[in-house]
Order: sequence, then C-alpha cells, then structure tokens
Amino acid sequence: MAVPLFDTSSPLAPLHDQLHAAVARVLDSGSYILGPEVSAFEQELAAYCGAAHAVGVANGTEALTIALRAMGVGPGDEVVVPSFTFYASAEAIPPTGAVPVFCDIDPSTYCVTAETVRAALTPRTKAVIAVHLFGNLAPVAEIEALGVPVLEDAAQAAGSIASDGRRPGALGKAATFSFFPSKNLGAFGDGGLITTSDEQIAERARTLRFHGSHDKVTYEEIGYNSRLDELQAAILRVQLPHLDEMADGRRRAGRHYEQAGLGELVRLPRATAGAEPAWHLYVVADPAVEELESALANAGIGHKAYYRTPVHRQVAMREWGAGVELPATDEAARTHLAIPMSPVLTRKQVDEVVAAARDAG
Ligand SMILES: Cc1ncc(COP(=O)(O)O)c(C=O)c1O
Repeated sequence: MAVPLFDTSSPLAPLHDQLHAAVARVLDSGSYILGPEVSAFEQELAAYCGAAHAVGVANGTEALTIALRAMGVGPGDEVVVPSFTFYASAEAIPPTGAVPVFCDIDPSTYCVTAETVRAALTPRTKAVIAVHLFGNLAPVAEIEALGVPVLEDAAQAAGSIASDGRRPGALGKAATFSFFPSKNLGAFGDGGLITTSDEQIAERARTLRFHGSHDKVTYEEIGYNSRLDELQAAILRVQLPHLDEMADGRRRAGRHYEQAGLGELVRLPRATAGAEPAWHLYVVADPAVEELESALANAGIGHKAYYRTPVHRQVAMREWGAGVELPATDEAARTHLAIPMSPVLTRKQVDEVVAAARDAG
C-alpha cells in the first residue's frame, strides 16, 4: 500500500462546505485587499498565539524581511540564522541591508541552541532568527538570555506547544508564519503573517506592508506591497478553529512511529525540552540514507530530503557562507529524510512505512 509524504486534502474534506461559503462571502463582499477578513484573522491568530498583534503579509519570506526591518535591523547589522533550514530563512536577511551569520544546530532536534547561537554572536549582532524547524521548538528564552532579540521563524510550527503551554508566535520579540498550502495552517495560495506583542514593531510592520505608508497619503520609507489577501484570510479563518485538532493528529502520528519501533531502525526526531511539536515534517536520520530512500521508493512510500545542501553552501550565499564550518548541519544535511506525516496518518500506514524501512536492513 502506497503512503503519500503528506496529505493536505483529506483533513480539509469535512470543512468543504464552510470553505466554499467563506470564498463566496468574499467574492460577494467586493472587498479583496485589507478588509474585514484580514483584520478578523489577524485578531484571531494573535489571540490563538497569545500575542498582542498580528500583521498579515503576502508570504512567509516577506514576513521575515518586514519583521526584521520592523525590529530595527538594517545596513551594518548581522542576523544569526541556522543554515539547516529552508533557504528563505536566510534569503530574507540581505534585503534589509544586514548580513546573515550562519550558526549550527543540535542534530537530534534540528534546531539551534543557545550554545550554537552564542558561537555566532558578535558586537554587530542585531537579532537571531530561531527557526522552529519541522514543528520542533527552538529554545527562544535561552537565546534571548544571551542579550539578543529573537525573531521566531514559525513557518513550520503552527499548532506546536512549548513546555510552559505557550505557543510559537509569542515566545520571542516577534514571529513569522507562512501559510503556503502544505503548511500546518495552509491557505489556497501564498500568505504570511507577523506576530508581536511590541506595539512599535507591529505599527512599523503595518506601514512597511503598505509601501511604507500608514495613511496611504504620505510615504515615510521604502516599503513593500505585501498583504495577505481577503480570500486567503477567509479560508484560514475556517481552518484556525481546527488547528489544534490537526496538530494533535500530527503528534499522534509521531507517537505511532515511536510505538511501531521505527527508532530501532533510524534516528527519530527528538522534541526540544518540554515541547509538543505539531510535526510539520517527520524527519528521521540514517547514516545509510540512500538505502533507506531506495527501500521506501520500492514500497511506494513518500519521502524527501528537503535540505541536502545546507543554506550556507548555496551559491547565492557564497559571500556569507564561504569558509563557515558547521559540522552538525553538514551531518543533518547528509543523513536526514522526511517520511510520511499528516494529521490523518494512520497506525496502519505507519506500519507500512516501518516495514519498508526494515527492508533497508
Ligand atoms: C522555515 C521556513 N521559513 C520561511 C518560509 C517561507 O515561507 P513562504 O514560502 O510563505 O515565503 C518557509 C516555507 O516555505 C519555511 O519553511
């Protein structure tokens, strides 16, 4: 039985009628940009995260650039960022005028630690982007204890829960989300959002998303045309009340892998201290990963190596990545593999995956 890498449509099937009604409501409203749906979604998502403000933008990449600028990052500054992440986490930094400084990760959690961040700090460090990779939670408080503000890249972590019950989006100075369709909270197109409890950061982000103007008459600084659409906001509002239930499904699927004995065959992802990750991707590690890949392919099991080339080794990053040595990042890049994960992944499907992994020997 084939098992897909992810399943975005089955979890939405019960919401079909509500989604159609939401789309119709927006079409009929005649209001498509920065209207009542975006405002309502901003309030609802901020409340869900426990942040005071949310600012909807066009995608998760621009959310990072705008949030960094709103935090005061600019030319001459350095921003610490992991290299084992989606490329956009670092790509978002140069447009602010600042430069990325790459740091290592803990290969068992795939997240940065206070120690790996400390090794990359200099007097020019203005902020740290802590990526909650694969839904696992980076230790934001420990990093901020080093004296630097943290921007959480929570693109992959909607629905995760920290050890104290708090949510990504309210752990650092500001946070960003992506609503790319395959994300834990996915739109039907691109979308992104910034959360913060800092009034000034929120206000500047709102100005930056609208061409650097807060009144649409005077233009105070060079900004962006970067808004979340009304249509996407309406679609996301239907899904948000079900996010926890879907996140629980992801956590349950993770437990199925543990109970099915996958940990005897490959290294399972380890949740950071006290975190309950809503696994966006379930990523295992295996020194003989090519054999695992071909065993899964033979059995029709979806799998993908997302970050075989870490960001600091990408051509576009050569100016900032050349000569940087990040051993744990290189190890994770070489050995990781995402295997099926979704809110509706069953124990039977998990058993299929584990049986195929066993064949890899
Ligand atoms: C960790 C991370 N950061 C940033 C992004 C960028 O988000 P977007 O694709 O919405 O621009 C993504 C997702 O694509 C991501 O996974």
